[in-house]
Amino acid sequence: MKFQGSQNYVATQDLMLAVNASITLKRPLLVKGEPGTGKTMLAEEVAQALDMPLLQWHIKSTTKAQQGLYEYDAVSRLRDSQLKDLDGGEKVKDIHNYIVKGVLWQAFTADQPVALLIDEIDKADIEFPNDLLRELDRMEFYVYETRELVKARHRPLVFITSNNEKELPDAFLRRCFFHYIKFPDAETMQRIVDVHFPGLKKELLAAAMRTFYDVRNLPGLKKKPSTSELLDWLKLLVAEDMPIEALQSQDDKVAVPPLVGALLKNEQDVTLFEKLVFMQRHNR
Ligand SMILES: Nc1ncnc2c1ncn2[C@@H]1O[C@H](COP(=O)(O)OP(=O)(O)OP(=O)(O)O)[C@@H](O)[C@H]1O
Ligand SMILES: [Mg+2]
Repeated sequence: MKFQGSQNYVATQDLMLAVNASITLKRPLLVKGEPGTGKTMLAEEVAQALDMPLLQWHIKSTTKAQQGLYEYDAVSRLRDSQLKDLDGGEKVKDIHNYIVKGVLWQAFTADQPVALLIDEIDKADIEFPNDLLRELDRMEFYVYETRELVKARHRPLVFITSNNEKELPDAFLRRCFFHYIKFPDAETMQRIVDVHFPGLKKELLAAAMRTFYDVRNLPGLKKKPSTSELLDWLKLLVAEDMPIEALQSQDDKVAVPPLVGALLKNEQDVTLFEKLVFMQRHNR
C-alpha cells in the first residue's frame, strides 16, 4: 500500500512521505495546516487512491469520544417497553437492539480495511483526544452494556486534522505521525490551479497569482487567503470573463482587485489593502 498522489489532488513529496510513514508505522496521521490547504481532501483522496471506503467523523464542540464508539439508546428502549404489548416485547429484551454503533465501531468491524477521518479534532473539548487514546492505539474497546470487546478486524487508516485552535495532549501526540501542510509555493499552487482549471489562460493566471501572493504577503493581515480562496476567486474571474487589465494595479483606476471579497474576509484587511494601494500610487 503506497500513496502516490492522485489526479485531483496535488501532493508534495513530503506529504506523500508522511502518508506512507503513517501507513508503515500503523499510527494515525495528524495533519495540520491553514484552513483550506487540503487537509480534509487529503483523506478523501488517499482513501480513493488506495481503494478504501472512507468513514468520516466531523467533530464539533459538543462531540464526545463515546459517540464514536457507540451510544446506548435508553429512550427508545423505554418507549418500546411501554408499547411492548404490540409485538410481545421481544425487541425490548435484547439490549443489542438499542446499541447504536459509532464510526469507530463501524471502522473496526468493516469487512475490508477502511480509512477513517477524524476531522477537526481541535473543535472538541480537551478531554476528547485523551478519551480516544486506547481505542486508537490498541484498536479495541469494551461495551459495558453488552459485556463484549469490540476489536478491529483490520486496522483502519486513520487521518486526524486540526486547525490548531487547541493544543493536543502529549500522550495523544506520541501516538500519531505528524505532518504540517505548508502553504504551497507558487509552483505547487500553479499545479493545484491546473487541476481545477485546466484551460485557464496563462496571462490571466500569472496576473491573478501575482495579485494573490501580493495580498497574502501583506504584513499585518488578520486572515490570509488560502488555496481554496484563490480557487474561488479564479472561478469568479473566469465566470465574469474579467480582462487581465483589471488585475494589474498600474492602472490608476483600479483600487483593489475585482471581487476581492473572495480573498479578504474582513473589513480591516480590505482597508489595509486599500491603504497600501493608495501609498504605492503616491510613491510612483
Ligand atoms: N493540494 C491540493 N490539490 C488540489 N486541490 C486542493 C489542494 N489543496 C486544497 N485544494 C482545494 O481546496 C479546497 C479546500 O480543501 P479542504 O477542504 O481539504 O481544506 P482543509 O484544509 O480541510 O480546510 P479547513 O481547515 O477549513 O477544513 C478543496 O476542495 C480543493 O478544491
Ligand atoms: Mg477540513
